[in-house]
Amino acid sequence: MRLAIVGCGSIGGELAEAADGMTEVKRIYLTDQRGMAAEALASKLKKAVAVRSIEQELYHCDLVIEAASQEAAREIIPKVVGRGVDIMIMSVGVLVDDDYRNGVYAAARNTGARILVPSGAVCGTDGLSSAAAGKIDKVELITTKNPSGIADVKYLKEKGIDVWKITEPTVVFQGAAREAVKFFPKNVNVAATVSVMGIGFDRTKVTIVIDPKASANSHELIVKGEFGEMTSRTNNVPSSVNPSTSHLAALSAISALKRIIRNDWVGI
Ligand SMILES: NC(=O)c1ccc[n+]([C@@H]2O[C@H](COP(=O)([O-])OP(=O)(O)OC[C@H]3O[C@@H](n4cnc5c(N)ncnc54)[C@H](O)[C@@H]3O)[C@@H](O)[C@H]2O)c1
Repeated sequence: MRLAIVGCGSIGGELAEAADGMTEVKRIYLTDQRGMAAEALASKLKKAVAVRSIEQELYHCDLVIEAASQEAAREIIPKVVGRGVDIMIMSVGVLVDDDYRNGVYAAARNTGARILVPSGAVCGTDGLSSAAAGKIDKVELITTKNPSGIADVKYLKEKGIDVWKITEPTVVFQGAAREAVKFFPKNVNVAATVSVMGIGFDRTKVTIVIDPKASANSHELIVKGEFGEMTSRTNNVPSSVNPSTSHLAALSAISALKRIIRNDWVGI
């Protein structure tokens, strides 16, 4: 298998190193808007080469992995699926835009390409995915953050909430995922993953809690439906390279890649 990775930061870097050790992976094309980042990463790996863009590689690549930014994802998904190549995306927030999402899904159906979304920084998506095969009554995501992870949010300033004055766990937002991703863009990926997988952006409820004692982001996913109900709690450790990214996000990308390239898998 030949891979192209767009974005050589915390997730792309860890994923490329893991892919380099997989026997099924024969070649890894790396690209980054900071050209040096792709070259530095390629120099540490056996199968990788830095390229300026992935356009030429689409003629012989089996899978593109986006680990860059929402802007990058918005630009490359149509190009990749338009050529009939599979893409795995980490900047899932790009799928919030209904017109864009429906457009790229339709394009992928036309060419037979797949748009793949790993579970990222949240656990419990296996249960949510299974539940979505039947009737779901409720999906709620409760995200708890340290004030430092949310201090610059305009919505909170407009509501007169000074995050630094909060002394105990406090709910600062409750509403539909569609509103949450608009007001809290840094929370967009997990809310988008859960919404796309389950009952959509309007029916998925998001609660955001600020806890001065929280050392990193945690997510509680609650699902109720005809299957019964489940609660999953994830207490994340930040990436050592990018503290605003949870380490689990890179691990989920590696796990998803293993599942894509191997012909056996367990769980959803
Ligand atoms: N799905 C999830 O649960 C989840 C969790 C954490 C992060 N993310 C998302 O994954 C993406 C990558 O996260 P990260 O922690 O690796 O970020 P990072 O900032 O550590 O690395 C991103 C890299 O992409 C490069 N880049 C940015 N725009 C680019 C473009 N247009 N073309 C080429 N390269 C570009 C940057 O130069 C940087 O090297 C982000 O969008 C982040 O929000 C998703």
